[in-house]
Amino acid sequence: MKHLPIKVMGTGRYAPEKVMTNDDFSKILDTNDEWITTRTGIKRRHVAENETAIDMAYNAALKALSDRNYDKESIDLIIVASITSPVKTPSIANLIQAKLGLNDKNIVSFDINAACSGFVYALEIAASMVTSGGYKSALVIGSEHMTSILDWEDRSTAILFGDAAGAAIIEPSDDPKDNAYFWNGSRGDDTGILWIDPKVKMAGRDVYKFAVDIMPKAIHKVLEKANLTIDDIDLIIPHQANYRIIQSVAKDMNLPLERFLMNLEEYGNTSAASIPFLLDEHKSTNRAVKKVLLVGFGGGFTWGAAILNV
Ligand code: ACO
Repeated sequence: MKHLPIKVMGTGRYAPEKVMTNDDFSKILDTNDEWITTRTGIKRRHVAENETAIDMAYNAALKALSDRNYDKESIDLIIVASITSPVKTPSIANLIQAKLGLNDKNIVSFDINAACSGFVYALEIAASMVTSGGYKSALVIGSEHMTSILDWEDRSTAILFGDAAGAAIIEPSDDPKDNAYFWNGSRGDDTGILWIDPKVKMAGRDVYKFAVDIMPKAIHKVLEKANLTIDDIDLIIPHQANYRIIQSVAKDMNLPLERFLMNLEEYGNTSAASIPFLLDEHKSTNRAVKKVLLVGFGGGFTWGAAILNV
């Protein structure tokens, strides 16, 4: 489908309290703040201690519901993007249904795995389902407990990730101004460049090359699909993997870096949570934002780009 008219009815975010700094890493690994900061832009990351991806998803969902006092009884679809659930089944989405007290309602709830592109994938699925007339209200969440799947002895990956969750509630819209557009895709990596089995293993340089190639391509493609130019976009929300990747995309597209929202200095790479987290966090930046462009890439390989009104 070319476009999917949706309204965003609330957003929310959650990060655990405990913070781990680059200096904390230098006490357990052969690394230092200078290396991590210059190679990635990351200074700190939040680490879940007694919480799981389920708890974080629930906390973000509660924030999204309270954002505009949304009636949880309206929700009939829950989709969670995550690669870090502590259990294979029930899905996180099933458990969110239970935690929200919605078990008596005829709801469809399930999880998806598209790694760091997961939220954009989940949003397209939810948008398709609510605009097809089958469902009225979708709660879409990205939640990751990345620190539970790290090899803490591998300095090239352990320093990159953090834990968080972000959520959005969407409904179908009658207003053509609310048309959302997507350009999601994948290319199966059967060579092991970026695998989690059971811990994160990554050939960083190869992932870097993939990212700086696919991100501008995805931005151009989704703009083309929406028949818009980058000047029609108020804010670009990129997946937070590495400051240098975002800097390279900005340069490639001849755009000032300020057009890209970033928080990786504080949270690191939170996989499927990074984009919905920023989708909520942008409200505290006091920028006048109506139209946003989301763009991410991740393991799979997967990528996702979306344009929507907020
Ligand atoms: N501290 C100090 N030195 C380090 C560290 C560290 N934390 N990590 C690696 N090094 C060393 C390496 O051992 C290597 O040393 P050598 O030259 O003696 O062999 C040197 O630094 C350079 O290593 P590279 O891997 O070539 O460093 P690079 O500049 O490529 O940066 C990085 C590594 C930051 C991982 C970068 O490649 C990157 O950001 N890649 C993309 C990662 C990414 O986006 N991942 C997304 C995954 S999302 C998902 O789907 C789960």
